[in-house]
Amino acid sequence: MKFFIDTASLAQIKEAQELGILDGVTTNPSLMAKEGITGTDRVMKHYVDICNIVDGDVSAEVISTDYEGMVREGENLAALHPNITVKLPMTRDGIKAIKHFHGKGIKTNCTLVFSAGQALLAAKAGAKYVSPFVGRLDDVSTDGLQLIEQIRGIYDNYQFETQILAASIRHPMHIVQCAEIGADVATCPLSAILALFNHPLTDIGLEKFLADHKKAAKQHAPAK
Ligand code: G3P
Repeated sequence: MKFFIDTASLAQIKEAQELGILDGVTTNPSLMAKEGITGTDRVMKHYVDICNIVDGDVSAEVISTDYEGMVREGENLAALHPNITVKLPMTRDGIKAIKHFHGKGIKTNCTLVFSAGQALLAAKAGAKYVSPFVGRLDDVSTDGLQLIEQIRGIYDNYQFETQILAASIRHPMHIVQCAEIGADVATCPLSAILALFNHPLTDIGLEKFLADHKKAAKQHAPAK
């Protein structure tokens, strides 16, 4: 399973990249706003900065909601860097734009997916990625992971090449469960990725190994 980081923070992207396990980045308008990145020129430069850190797909979301606007905006984004993947919402115009970009060989990520039917449409249109929002479904008392499972089954039935990019990941168990189900990608906050490292037995074990090594070194030290 590929690991993407879901942030527009350059510091967090660098930190995840330095771990050596990062495969890509997803952003959205809320994440860009959180970093204070506004205005077309700054937004475009920020995407280039992200692409220069990570060697993998970087999702850049359009703001337009009409087909012509999405196509125009998406083409400008795609021209920035070969790693840019145009992120488009699951709407009629969004699906039409995904089909258009598929024909032109431009990578897309269909976002705001909350049902298997929507995921089917994204695959039919030729999206490279489909983004079902696991955490936001959990938030409304619906099993987000069940949706990942359902999409996996449908895509496998027809060998759709669209990759399931589990989004709105909130904690490390979401990541593990997505891997069990067979999601192709999980896009995660840095905190959820870092939480995967933690186990008290690892800390206790390491402490004991080092203490034993120190004790033995003292016991077997050559006499002065
Ligand atoms: O990639 C979509 C993701 O950012 C949404 O996450 O936590 O805002 O539901 P969240």
